[in-house]
Amino acid sequence: MTAPRDESKDEAAEAPAAFSIDEVGVEVIRPLRHKYLRPDQPEDAVCYQTDGQETCRHFAAKDAEGQVIASGTLNLEDRVAGQPPFGTPGMRIRGIAVEDDWRGKGVGAAMVGHLLEEGRASGVAEAWGNARTENLRFYAKNGFAEVSGAFEIPTIGEHVVVALSLLPKGRKARKALKEAQEQGEAGDAPDAPVEG
Ligand SMILES: CC(C)(COP(=O)(O)OP(=O)(O)OC[C@H]1O[C@@H](n2cnc3c(N)ncnc32)[C@H](O)[C@@H]1OP(=O)(O)O)[C@@H](O)C(=O)NCCC(=O)NCCS
Repeated sequence: MTAPRDESKDEAAEAPAAFSIDEVGVEVIRPLRHKYLRPDQPEDAVCYQTDGQETCRHFAAKDAEGQVIASGTLNLEDRVAGQPPFGTPGMRIRGIAVEDDWRGKGVGAAMVGHLLEEGRASGVAEAWGNARTENLRFYAKNGFAEVSGAFEIPTIGEHVVVALSLLPKGRKARKALKEAQEQGEAGDAPDAPVEG
């Protein structure tokens, strides 16, 4: 006779970790940005030029106790690199960081997904960002294509521009993706990548 299954145990093992994502003031997420994106630089190195502008919005993921465990920022801004965009208007995503002990649990994907939903709701056609080379797998898993060659952002390291169409899937979107990828493979670095 087999022992009855302890379903409460199964639930505990499989239950996804609880967190929520809310729009916040930038001061809420700057400590996390600093800790994981520019730890060796002064705190104001994570004050982006667009942070206080109307086009810019900030989001925090918080655990069940209300502790900030992830950050993300979007700015309504067209991509300026030499490659054709998937469409305009564009939205830059940046400042994505997840607390060390929360990594690998889908929090980063949830944050990116949240930013993309906000973008779709605002009529954005393309999301893009400067991705650190070591994070390209993360962005690919979240649907982004590499649309530039690698380039160096001083003091942070090698990056690649990644982009994603938010247009409804169709022939036009597929053609734009193919063109963007071909341009990416050609290895052009963007003209003016400034901040990571
Ligand atoms: C990149 C980052 C945001 C991913 O967040 P996350 O919550 O771990 O991401 P998810 O759980 O949604 O996805 C996990 C995927 O992210 C990638 N990943 C990158 N670093 C990872 C890490 N330290 N732990 C786990 N996964 C990591 C892997 O590709 C992983 O996919 P896999 O499970 O197939 O291996 C996070 O590692 C981070 O904050 N890194 C430091 C800050 C940074 O570099 N931000 C991005 C700037 S471009």
